[in-house]
Amino acid sequence: MLVISQVSKRYGDAPALAPTDLQVPSGESLVLIGPSGCGKSTLLRLIAGLIQPDSGTITFEGTRLSSENILQIRQRMGYVIQEGGLFPHLTVRDNVTVMARYLHRDASWIDCRINELAQLARLPEEMMSRFPAELSGGQRQRVSLMRALMLDPDLLLLDEPLGALDPMIRYELQQELKAIFGQLGKTVIMVTHDIAEAAFFGQTLVLMRDGHIVQAGPFKELAQTPAEPFVEQFITAQREPMAQLVEALR
Ligand SMILES: Nc1ncnc2c1ncn2[C@@H]1O[C@H](COP(=O)(O)OP(=O)(O)OP(=O)(O)O)[C@@H](O)[C@H]1O
Ligand SMILES: [Mg+2]
Repeated sequence: MLVISQVSKRYGDAPALAPTDLQVPSGESLVLIGPSGCGKSTLLRLIAGLIQPDSGTITFEGTRLSSENILQIRQRMGYVIQEGGLFPHLTVRDNVTVMARYLHRDASWIDCRINELAQLARLPEEMMSRFPAELSGGQRQRVSLMRALMLDPDLLLLDEPLGALDPMIRYELQQELKAIFGQLGKTVIMVTHDIAEAAFFGQTLVLMRDGHIVQAGPFKELAQTPAEPFVEQFITAQREPMAQLVEALR
């Protein structure tokens, strides 16, 4: 579905992404993970066409992304930006339906779809007329997810979509998202800081550092055959403190 070939990006003198190759088959759930500043959001923004690469090409279902076709192609991508990106002056309903209305989708279809999505995100009907500032951080994230799913996109780009959720809801939503994306055969590229979430959600984990892909593969492969010591360090850095805490409480 997506072929990224030698794509790079720098800001001024600072490279944010070294020339990078990545292929994402249709129906795959791929997780980008790595330390803060390693280029995860940059890669997602390049795929969504929000920024242009300095080199290389991105091909979406056989079509090379260009400034001429990006608006058309982006309608087939759902994108949740890291900060949620809701319009503060629009209600939840208007935020979620903004693209559908712009594209003149049928009003009854829109109503039906927003009800479906509200159920999915477990947001009560009365919240649909609130403004983002009147919601909790976790509720806002769920609205951002609803908006990304509104047009039933083929490809979902999710930049830490569950970061502000409390552990219980996060866990539930992880399960639900995985089930939904699996059922609908969605292709998903998700960024997370959480290695357990990455392992649960991703068929393929892409571990990055300093604008480079260090290793890509299933969690098991990263855990059992780390390409370099950093991979092991990254995995144990998150697991070790929790294991020690549990041990100490015994
Ligand atoms: N618009 C910009 N102008 C200048 N530098 C930028 C810009 N956007 C990102 N960068 C830099 O590019 C690098 C990669 O940033 P990016 O946002 O992709 O990191 P990230 O992996 O998503 O980090 P985090 O986990 O903190 O979200 C960082 O060093 C960042 O400071
Ligand atoms: Mg980021």
